[in-house]
Amino acid sequence: MSRRHALSALVSMLVWTAPAFAAAPMPQVDVFKSPYCGCCGAWVEHMKAAGFVVKVTEVTDTTATRKRLGLSDAYGSCHTATVGGYVLEGHVPAAEVKRLLAGRPAALGLAVPGMPPSAPGMEVPGRKDAYEVLLIDKQGKSSAFANYPKA
Ligand code: CU
Ligand code: CU
Repeated sequence: MSRRHALSALVSMLVWTAPAFAAAPMPQVDVFKSPYCGCCGAWVEHMKAAGFVVKVTEVTDTTATRKRLGLSDAYGSCHTATVGGYVLEGHVPAAEVKRLLAGRPAALGLAVPGMPPSAPGMEVPGRKDAYEVLLIDKQGKSSAFANYPKA
């Protein structure tokens, strides 16, 4: 390889690797869950698989965490988490969390109320149930953030 070729190879390598260095590291997800909940653990694995660093705190009363974070029990699920200044309630897909962090809307966070089958960590083999991801504003009102249709 000539010097010029070696140089251009080096430049193209730098160009290709630079965005990886420029990207901000993913914020840590702090999860508060009951030690007895299996699906919460499955959601934690889903988030880790999507590249998030996850810290789990076991709590006996999950409603206390929601209250502390200002989220109504009306949106309650089995676990509550925080990431980048937002609250996440329940089985929120990692892709929606990434979209939230990229767009950074003025909001309290995202919620998947209840425990809908087919949400990440609640998968039922051979089934795709419809469920909705809600964006919760700082007044506690919700709007649709994403809709996962039945399939
Ligand atoms: Cu659950
Ligand atoms: Cu859970």
